[in-house]
Amino acid sequence: MAADPRVIELMSYYRDAELHGANLLMRLLKLIDDPDAQIKLSLHLAEETHHAWLWTKRISDLGATPVRVMDGYQTRIGFRTVPRSLTELLALTIVVEERAFSRYLEHAARPNVDEETLKILSEVTKDEKWHISWVKAKLDELVEKEGSQDRIREAMQRYREIDEHVYADLAAKERAAFGDELEAPVQTS
Ligand SMILES: [Fe+2]
Ligand SMILES: [Fe+2]
Repeated sequence: MAADPRVIELMSYYRDAELHGANLLMRLLKLIDDPDAQIKLSLHLAEETHHAWLWTKRISDLGATPVRVMDGYQTRIGFRTVPRSLTELLALTIVVEERAFSRYLEHAARPNVDEETLKILSEVTKDEKWHISWVKAKLDELVEKEGSQDRIREAMQRYREIDEHVYADLAAKERAAFGDELEAPVQTS
């Protein structure tokens, strides 16, 4: 049976977001002069590229190839904001990681998700949780050091607003493609 092209496109968007996430980490690796962060970023980067591979492999196992994504989540975010400092870049990383985390959880709660896809969703979600927590801790440390609490709080607020807009557009696009197949099952007990 041929793979559902809508599913392949959705997984291609996940793959694209993971690859762009890896790109953001490459920028951080160049900017951050901190041995502890260098170690954590290296593992973090390895995990994001692994996530991109898991989605690529899933697409391939379904007998398809990744679709080229020109208007993915991070591209849309990039049109709306450009972080100007290390701490702003870390703040944006937290916002996009939180989005990936909640997005994958939401997908896992849908009806009729196949076993293999569920396995990937559970593996990536576990990693995203760690990503959020270490980057948050590092950001707090740096913000404390430079006394930039207010500026970063405002930046974070701005990034969250941008994320909400971008995600709403992507979710609408997805709803148009899948209709009510996206509804979570009603709990009866
Ligand atoms: Fe990821
Ligand atoms: Fe992540």
